[in-house]
Amino acid sequence: MSAPAAAAPSFEHLLERPDLVWMGQNTTHLEPPVEVLAALEESIRRREFQLYAPALGFEQLRELIVEDLGLPGADVWVTDGAVGGLHHICTGLAGSISRIVTSDPGWPWPARFAGLEGVPATTLDLYSAEQGYKITAAQIAEVIEPRSLVYLIDPLNPLGSRYTRDELVAITDLARETGSLVVHDCTYRHFATDHTLAAELYPEGTFTTYSFSKWLGLAGLRLGAVVAVPELLSRLTAVPSNPLGANIQAQRAAIAGLTVKEPWLARVRGANEANQRTVRAAVERSGLGKLVVYPSHGNFVAVDIADSGWSADALCAAMLERDVFIRPGTYQSPRFGERFVKVSTSVPEEWGERFAAAWADLSTPGAAR
Ligand SMILES: Cc1ncc(COP(=O)(O)O)c(C=O)c1O
Repeated sequence: MSAPAAAAPSFEHLLERPDLVWMGQNTTHLEPPVEVLAALEESIRRREFQLYAPALGFEQLRELIVEDLGLPGADVWVTDGAVGGLHHICTGLAGSISRIVTSDPGWPWPARFAGLEGVPATTLDLYSAEQGYKITAAQIAEVIEPRSLVYLIDPLNPLGSRYTRDELVAITDLARETGSLVVHDCTYRHFATDHTLAAELYPEGTFTTYSFSKWLGLAGLRLGAVVAVPELLSRLTAVPSNPLGANIQAQRAAIAGLTVKEPWLARVRGANEANQRTVRAAVERSGLGKLVVYPSHGNFVAVDIADSGWSADALCAAMLERDVFIRPGTYQSPRFGERFVKVSTSVPEEWGERFAAAWADLSTPGAAR
């Protein structure tokens, strides 16, 4: 895969465009809960930034995360974003892992992290309607070996599919039989319906990763967690990657967010659903492309543009010229990335309308390919 710095636009440069519609990072751009802002302000006022946080996170936050997931008996390590935990899993446990099993499309970083320690990766293709745009247990069965690490993104960034309980049973059974670990990346869980936790089915071998970047919109504060039964989690926390603790202000904001979770989720899910409808209607009206998974279980939708005459990169560049930032599939899929673009949808409804107008403009005859 090409170097990520080349694939990603300069976010710093984009920040200088005040009228830009940010539908390219799967982040949330709604007015945050007042309680979250108050917690941030209070933390600054008390100058908590002068302190280190506890190595595994504030007790209250750890308890709230267990409660939010509904995994009694599990332990929590609060990390520098979900990605901080993923990095430590993939590098810290590399010595006991024979192979990482991942997917295309998917999220490329865990395989790269494991690769730093010489762990080989097997990438399974899933861009297929027949298999529901998911990895199947049959595919995993063909490649899994003793002590593998199966990296499962659910809901799947970038397509928005999610695994059923039966599918997870089949996958976790394979992991158990081969003494393998599962990383269940649940970064987008709060946007899904009927989401099952692999940790319920295979607690002794599943790490669940958790993020505050998406549902609560704290991406820039860098806060997430790894959750597992104590015996498993202690393999990571005996020597945590950041023993000085994750961002203290972010932890205050996360506690406040979890306290007002229900009304906030109603708002953010409502906007997400409305924008997914708007994007779908715009795509259908234009005749340019087709939604891959609808409704998506994430806060984004992928639009297949294979028959449009556009390349994913050219289409995203043309949208950016119209002040709408979306992402080409090439960022997350070496094999299928030219076939789709990804549009983030937990944003103000007005941005959904601006996306629709820009997309309509692209589909007019004569728009450059
Ligand atoms: C699948 C997946 N896992 C992990 C992350 C990282 O989340 P965080 O911002 O909590 O580090 C992302 C962010 O886009 C993601 O898409």
